[in-house]
Amino acid sequence: MKANLLITGTSGFLGHRAAIYFGEKFNVFTPSHAEMDIADADSVTAYFQNAQPKFVLHCAAVSDVGQCEKEPERSYEINVGGTRNIARACRDFGAKLIFCSSDQVYFGSSETAAHVETEVLSPANVYGRQKLECEAVCHEYCPDSVSLRLTWMYDKAHFGASEHGDFMTTVRAAIDSGRAISMPVHDTRGITDVNEVLRGIEAMLIADGGVYNFGAENNLCTYEAIRAAFKMAGIDENLLIPDNEKFAQKPRNIAMNTTKATASGAVFSSTIDGIVRALQL
Ligand SMILES: NC(=O)c1ccc[n+]([C@@H]2O[C@H](COP(=O)([O-])OP(=O)(O)OC[C@H]3O[C@@H](n4cnc5c(N)ncnc54)[C@H](OP(=O)(O)O)[C@@H]3O)[C@@H](O)[C@H]2O)c1
Repeated sequence: MKANLLITGTSGFLGHRAAIYFGEKFNVFTPSHAEMDIADADSVTAYFQNAQPKFVLHCAAVSDVGQCEKEPERSYEINVGGTRNIARACRDFGAKLIFCSSDQVYFGSSETAAHVETEVLSPANVYGRQKLECEAVCHEYCPDSVSLRLTWMYDKAHFGASEHGDFMTTVRAAIDSGRAISMPVHDTRGITDVNEVLRGIEAMLIADGGVYNFGAENNLCTYEAIRAAFKMAGIDENLLIPDNEKFAQKPRNIAMNTTKATASGAVFSSTIDGIVRALQL
């Protein structure tokens, strides 16, 4: 018999794809926001009562960094309060929790090497602080929970206008229109094919509890990484313009070392290799 898997946030970028990916392997429950408001503890308990999940993939969030800055209290209620409700329900119903955290927890770190999970952190933005608090909440209620520090993700396919754009949408639009786009120089981070993330999440369902850096590694700034990928894919590099202003005041390096996740069975291409493959599709 298939195990019950509850996925939150399935109208979103990752949750939507997770519902498709896991649809054949699990008995998948995909509550809409209206069916289960994660910020409402009673709504969460009632849904868990019905679904009796063995696994929970918690994707729902206010994922827009700018919106979290603008509305810190509202986003806290959903991101941290909502995650508390989900974690509490996972404890009460005996479900294994996989929580979607973010590489943004490393923004503000003075560490220059690829970040590791054991660093002491003090995130520079509201979203990163909320994600770090969520990880602690997950651990508090469910010590066997798995928190995945996800990178920026993209897909080769897009599922409609309601979905927020991703990195590849922007790049493809530039290639198709021949209009140049700018990418930041003072920013270094992993950028990952969401399909590798989904396969990796499957491996993490049986991983030991804890925090895992999760996605492609990268040691070049975003501008240089994408330029290298363009070159390897035979695409005109002049379509990329260096943006020397973004993050200039506070350069960002949130690239992660993902050794811990790969030891648990996740497999990630490098940021450049993944982008080259996607560009060649
Ligand atoms: N996409 C990335 O590159 C990326 C990178 C790092 C980390 N992450 C994290 O990965 C997770 C998934 O990201 P994503 O890009 O898929 O997010 P997304 O596209 O913004 O989707 C967010 C989902 O959360 C739902 N939601 C928001 N408030 C809710 C509430 N109170 N109750 C129930 N559902 C609610 C939304 O439903 P409605 O629209 O109906 O409200 C939507 O389905 C998030 O936790 C995000 O922070 C994403």
